[in-house]
Amino acid sequence: MTTSSRKLDHIRICLEKPVDDARNRPFDDLTLVHRALPEIDESDIDTSCKFLGKRLKAPIIISAMTGGHPDVLKINVRLAQAAQETGVALGLGSQRAALENNELAETFAAARHAAPDIPIIGNIGAVQLKRSGPKILERLAEMIDADAIAVHLNFLQESIQPEGDKDACGVLDAIKTAASGTVPIIVKETGSGISRETASDLVEAGVTIIDVSGVGGMSWAGVEAYRAAEAGDHELEEMGRLLWSWGVPTPASIIECKAAGANVIASGGVRSGLDVARSLALGACMAGTALPMLAPATKDSQSVVRAMSGYIRALRIAMFLTGCKDISMLGRVPLVVLGRTREWLEARGYDMRKFSAYRELAR
Ligand SMILES: Cc1cc2nc3c(=O)[nH]c(=O)nc-3n(C[C@H](O)[C@H](O)[C@H](O)COP(=O)(O)O)c2cc1C
Repeated sequence: MTTSSRKLDHIRICLEKPVDDARNRPFDDLTLVHRALPEIDESDIDTSCKFLGKRLKAPIIISAMTGGHPDVLKINVRLAQAAQETGVALGLGSQRAALENNELAETFAAARHAAPDIPIIGNIGAVQLKRSGPKILERLAEMIDADAIAVHLNFLQESIQPEGDKDACGVLDAIKTAASGTVPIIVKETGSGISRETASDLVEAGVTIIDVSGVGGMSWAGVEAYRAAEAGDHELEEMGRLLWSWGVPTPASIIECKAAGANVIASGGVRSGLDVARSLALGACMAGTALPMLAPATKDSQSVVRAMSGYIRALRIAMFLTGCKDISMLGRVPLVVLGRTREWLEARGYDMRKFSAYRELAR
């Protein structure tokens, strides 16, 4: 099966099957402490921020999903039009298919034509980067006039895919070489999160931005379980179901990566502007959302605009009710961490009082 047709399988399954990790909503463990006297005028709230040198209306990315098949060109264009209109950043899906077949480059480049002003992040698998060498990043960036390229880690998915590439040796070295090149890179998981240990290796290798893409949202093990079932491979299907929620939950991953010294993008299960606010209160600088944008993008760009506007509106309300005039203030609001996330973080040696009792909001 080609990279390009596998991509269509993934999109179809994500649209038809419950691949979201519904058993797991780690963001529900986080409560922003309500400020009954916000003492700010809601109309003064500024949700804008700077990312990769460009101004955004909100600290949100439509996370990497697609490209690489003629049938998905429209999806990328609609996502790009909506990102441009709402002033958020856009991640594109793996550009590997366009490396294999140059004619598919337009399915990615069309996004840049539709969104000239926002940061667009290209995408390639870490194993592919190792195989192709760091020069490939320049080709990928040129294809879409990218502001950065996300190098994705997806070894859970590779483990459940029949055609999975499981040689993970030398990937860190390849990332280290890439990090010293001219194209800015972001290292990104794809739904299994990044621990402090891995984040420390990445920071030591020169990586400055990590997109955690943790557990709590779309599950690749889940998608591959459905694919295996369709192919009649019951053992792989069972593996996918077993490992459905494998990895580091997103809120814990934000804290772990932040502790390692990275600039953190929160993604994996970010399902509202409230989750964006929670992510920033934990220390992330941006938050990404993928699956909730997919179904709207199969309709038209205005459907994506509506979905994204809902995120920005909820973020604004959360900022008002915590007395935050701007995005930087969210990093200092008191936050109560309960449940499994608290247990995880305590077991890993983090002091939860840092987020709740001792936070003073500087006005
Ligand atoms: C249909 C689909 C395709 C995806 N393709 C890619 C990809 O090519 N590269 C990548 O880094 N992540 C890819 N992802 C992962 C997302 O970028 C994101 O990390 C993950 O879905 C978790 O976010 P969510 O819970 O908001 O969906 C894909 C996700 C979906 C739903």
